[in-house]
Amino acid sequence: MDKIRVIGGRRLEGSVEISGAKNAALPAMAASLLTTDILYLENIPYVRDILTCRKLLQQIGIDAEVRENGTAELRAAEIRSHEAPYELVKTMRAAILVLGPMLARWKKARVSLPGGCAIGARPVNLHIMGLERMGARCDVVHGYIEASAEGLHGSYILMDTVTVTGTENLMMAATLAEGETILDNAACEPEISDLAGLLRSMGARIDGDGTRTIRIEGVKELHGCRHRIIPDRIEAGTFAVAAAITRGDVKVCNCDPQHLAAVLAQLGQTGAEIVMEPDSFRVRGSEPILSRNVTTQPYPAFPTDMQAQYMALMTQGDGTSVITETIFENRFMHALEMIRMGADITIDGRQAIIKGGKPLTGARVLASDLRASASLVLAALVAQGETWIDRVYHLDRGYYHIEEKLARLGANIERIV
Ligand code: UD1
Repeated sequence: MDKIRVIGGRRLEGSVEISGAKNAALPAMAASLLTTDILYLENIPYVRDILTCRKLLQQIGIDAEVRENGTAELRAAEIRSHEAPYELVKTMRAAILVLGPMLARWKKARVSLPGGCAIGARPVNLHIMGLERMGARCDVVHGYIEASAEGLHGSYILMDTVTVTGTENLMMAATLAEGETILDNAACEPEISDLAGLLRSMGARIDGDGTRTIRIEGVKELHGCRHRIIPDRIEAGTFAVAAAITRGDVKVCNCDPQHLAAVLAQLGQTGAEIVMEPDSFRVRGSEPILSRNVTTQPYPAFPTDMQAQYMALMTQGDGTSVITETIFENRFMHALEMIRMGADITIDGRQAIIKGGKPLTGARVLASDLRASASLVLAALVAQGETWIDRVYHLDRGYYHIEEKLARLGANIERIV
């Protein structure tokens, strides 16, 4: 299994190009199930989750081509299977995104329940509730959601928790339902608006995306189109922290700084100097790094997917900070590895208390999930000596050649195959 070796202590400088957003690309690929035509996608990041999604779509029977240059062509003329098997769903929970589109177009779907994962229980009850409100029947049998419907109809659906993939699944299903669907307390992450934009280009009638209430008027059929995926705000945020933690000076290019407003504001509070341009921003790290509290919340607030990276930064803060995680109940696994590197972190339920200013020292550490692995790379950039990060496949799920991008900025980092 691949490992990443980092020798800490280098200040990062230069510019880095951000890839397309994995979390926008995955629902876009699932949307190909809604039409017989070809969907042409651009700016798809060539990361492991995308390849898993391609495999899933191919198993379903879709012509799915995804290239390393970021282009994809997907055509769901007909399918030979209605199933998303456990083997694929267990490695990528976003596979649940085929449930809504498959049910809308073929009136049945069989999708493995994802189960828990390293960051929490992660139920899909709201996906099921919404589809049932639209007239589907969903049974859980042998660990699978078996869904069927005579035909979906529009409905008012209030989600009691903000769910990103839940909103996406129901929005896709509603495009082909009869009548109007209202999704209330919907997620308003940029990835939702990107999907809504794609669906509109396919002929769907959607408005209100980007707000808490999305209205979808069902249409008889959708057609193909060409769509460019938005840049990955979490990758951009990860590089922003890499600049701040190494007291470096990095221009993060090909991204949308507006999508990172909360993250950049938070980094600004820690002392980093941020200069925003329309499709890039520059981060100059400060000395000292100021310890500042943060709470994760749904967009537009500070994202849970940046919590681990921010914790790495706070280990270098000038005082004590508290990170409150409100989205996932068990998302502090990285703290235990950072403690092994010398960090002073106490976990108390959904809060982590970080006493900054402790020098980190390189160690052998284990990545437990995607963003946790990124945070360990960031911690390693400032640790004394050598850090070995194991289970790098988590990192590869969502970051395209992160070690090469960091090395170009001056980091002493390499992948050991
Ligand atoms: C998506 C992102 C993930 C991010 C998360 C929160 C993708 C592919 N993944 O995951 O990177 O960390 O949003 O921003 O886009 N919940 C329920 N019932 C449900 C669904 C969710 O209670 O049916 C709860 C979850 O347990 C969690 C919260 O809602 O506490 C948010 O989860 P959700 O937004 O659904 O996360 P994902 O869409 O899986």
